[in-house]
Amino acid sequence: MLNLEPSLTVELGSHFGVSFFAMSQAMKDHALSGRLVAIDTWEGDEHAGFYGNDVLLSFEDLRSSLFGNINSEIMRMRFDEAVESFEDGSVDVLHIDGLHTYEATKEDHETWQSKLKENGVILFHDVAEATGYGTSSYWNEIREAVPSFSFPHSFGLGVLFPKGVSPKCADLVDGSSLLREWYELRSRLDLAELQVVDEAAMIDDRDAAIRSMTAMIDDRDAAIRSMTAMIDDRDAAIRSMKAMIDDRDSRDGRIEALVNRDS
Ligand SMILES: C[S@@+](CC[C@H](N)C(=O)[O-])C[C@H]1O[C@@H](n2cnc3c(N)ncnc32)[C@H](O)[C@@H]1O
Repeated sequence: MLNLEPSLTVELGSHFGVSFFAMSQAMKDHALSGRLVAIDTWEGDEHAGFYGNDVLLSFEDLRSSLFGNINSEIMRMRFDEAVESFEDGSVDVLHIDGLHTYEATKEDHETWQSKLKENGVILFHDVAEATGYGTSSYWNEIREAVPSFSFPHSFGLGVLFPKGVSPKCADLVDGSSLLREWYELRSRLDLAELQVVDEAAMIDDRDAAIRSMTAMIDDRDAAIRSMTAMIDDRDAAIRSMKAMIDDRDSRDGRIEALVNRDS
């Protein structure tokens, strides 16, 4: 954003606002005054999933509480309806992040490309082949025809310059700038740190589950020991009663023998 100092940035597909608020943060950090527009039905699609009004409410909450001083606005409508509100050659940065099929990405690009300003940039989200999205095939089809580069890590971001490259971006495009490499390494590091935090939380959860299962096993073993002791006591009582019965039977036998002998 700093290199481009955009007067107008438009995002097609804003959902929770991950990329929109990253751009808002960049505008805030560098005290940029350009206009930032988020366009979405805020209903979802086949890839993002369909969702309720709570998503837009939390988006608006974040926008007003954290980025109240940024010149931003939302348009809750379809991309092809919103396009009429923008003049040709007016958009400095266009971020295409709607439905990720080949056809939808192509349609969004073709519908909006005339809106791009001289030296403007089109960003295509999710162009990494590993995503398996049609966005990736479309990006591979168009990337060679004009100046472009991509960030291959994570889900991949394609950066297209179909109307020329401003001097400030020239070294980014020809690869001589270390900024691209730094940005990729920094993002990989951030992702790795997040993974470490996630995995540490998983290990803590697993340890807690093991502790709770161990406590259950200990309780069960104690119950088995107490039942075994009760069974032993009962067996001893049965043996003692049996001995008493045997004793009584033997006395009865002797008495009967004596009675029979005397009669
Ligand atoms: C991948 S998500 C956007 C993610 C977002 N850029 C972020 O960083 O969090 C795609 C969004 O595009 C919206 N969308 C898809 N096709 C659309 C269309 N033709 N018009 C308006 N919104 C659309 C969906 O509602 C969904 O919220």
